[in-house]
Amino acid sequence: MQRDNTNKSIGIFDSGVGGLTVVKEIINLLPDEKLIYLGDTARVPYGIKSKDTVIKYAQSNADFLLSKGIKILVVACNTASAFSLDTLKEKLSIPVIGVIDPGAKKAAESTKNGKIAVIGTPSTIRSEAYSRAISKINPDLEIFSRACPLFVPLAEEGWHKGEITRKITETYLEDIIKEDIDVMILGCTHYPLLKSAIQEVAGENVLLIDSAEEIAREISENIDKENTSEEIMNKNEYYLTDVSESFIRIAGKFLGKELKEVILTDL
Ligand code: DGL
Repeated sequence: MQRDNTNKSIGIFDSGVGGLTVVKEIINLLPDEKLIYLGDTARVPYGIKSKDTVIKYAQSNADFLLSKGIKILVVACNTASAFSLDTLKEKLSIPVIGVIDPGAKKAAESTKNGKIAVIGTPSTIRSEAYSRAISKINPDLEIFSRACPLFVPLAEEGWHKGEITRKITETYLEDIIKEDIDVMILGCTHYPLLKSAIQEVAGENVLLIDSAEEIAREISENIDKENTSEEIMNKNEYYLTDVSESFIRIAGKFLGKELKEVILTDL
């Protein structure tokens, strides 16, 4: 049966502000689509939480977005994608897209020497979701993973460059760089903000894969763009489960422009 997607939006959730890097890429690629974003700022961070807890959070986020009328659900958080994507796909009747597969696919296609690095939150790395996704595409690829927990606060603090950031980046990456990797997946929504610092330390021969860009491409292949009605275009809605003063300031950095209105919601 053909689904009627007229007046339906793209629903996106993240544990907080990081998913706005994905929103930015979706707006670039699909400017006519209406987006409904939910940042679970009351329960962030997800990156240090257990699988069961993250699944529970992801389900309530999905229920909220479904109640707003969405045609596709984007899990714009690596930790939530790593832990809850299978559950959400099983339960929901709309397409569900996470960040892991698009990033893994791009990395597997791009590596020339078969050595891929994955960096992410402790939970994402512990889940081994990227390793599994890459090995499914090509079991011969070698994968080197590293959790970089301090990158999230550095990105939020706006310390995208500078001596401290460089030192921390060097410390995190030194072991995996020694492995002669030629591709590195930025497996956390916050990491694109530290891209230049990471590139500097990894070296110019290492290709950095930004999951935000990859997921935007995947969404564009999975939605019926003809069905979006004129009136709803470009009226994006941003919901948060907690609003702090710093959020708007930080959100601007992630989105690349000022976020004018956010709506506080209680899931
Ligand atoms: N959004 C999370 C991710 O991509 C990072 C922030 C958090 O720990 O919740 O894994």
